[in-house]
Amino acid sequence: MAKRDNIFKASNSNDLPFSFNEEVTEVFEDMIDRSVPGYKSSLKLIENLGKNYYQNNSSCYDLGCSLGASTLSLLKAVEEKDGQIYAVDNSKAMISNCNSKFKNLTDSNKLDFINQDLEDVEIKDASVVVINFVLQFIDSSKREGLLERVFCGMKKNGLLILSEKTHFDNKYRNQALFNLHHSFKFKNGYTKMEISRKRDALEGVLITDLEKDHRQRLIKIGFREIRKVMSNLNFFTLIAQK
Ligand SMILES: C[S@@+](CC[C@H](N)C(=O)[O-])C[C@H]1O[C@@H](n2cnc3c(N)ncnc32)[C@H](O)[C@@H]1O
Repeated sequence: MAKRDNIFKASNSNDLPFSFNEEVTEVFEDMIDRSVPGYKSSLKLIENLGKNYYQNNSSCYDLGCSLGASTLSLLKAVEEKDGQIYAVDNSKAMISNCNSKFKNLTDSNKLDFINQDLEDVEIKDASVVVINFVLQFIDSSKREGLLERVFCGMKKNGLLILSEKTHFDNKYRNQALFNLHHSFKFKNGYTKMEISRKRDALEGVLITDLEKDHRQRLIKIGFREIRKVMSNLNFFTLIAQK
């Protein structure tokens, strides 16, 4: 069973700013499930879309893989077919956890966990690329460059699956969705104090874009068939094809 996330229960200013360190790695499974509405559905979606869009003898990338939950969805999608899955994260703690958890599969050479910054990752022959709640943590000025490299490394008709937290340009809608997300976390057992401390820790670390900005950026890069396939409160999943 996943270890309970109590990180922000104790007042500890050393927790600022938020990072994907060992402490977060230990409780991450519980943290993301209780904080991101629709997270489990996003994993199922990756598996189903992966099944439809995976091209034989190609590669799949899980960029910002954390504990490999979305990587596992890609593995289920690819099954016994030939190909390679690369899961990348710049958190040492996350990648070392993945390497022990998925040891049997990494030994079989079908799956590689790479401890690298996405700025340096090389993408080649990709038919499916997953960026599940990660772009929001990348420096805003580097997001377009990363997506351009993803696009260049994809095969024709390849699929990008991009899940993100968002905000809205209408301030009433923004506040309403913010309140609903707060209630979601409260109902999942976080106290008001924990929610507020985590929000402070994430200030300047998690920076959301408007949905229209995501779409415009993808179009500018050359992606087509951009569609929203899931939306839960202030979180959504877009897919885009090369
Ligand atoms: C919210 S988690 C992603 C969750 C994961 N994709 C899933 O579906 O379970 C964000 C992850 O992105 C990673 N990350 C953030 N910035 C990164 C960067 N510049 N390079 C590589 N990984 C990064 C973090 O270490 C963290 O593990």
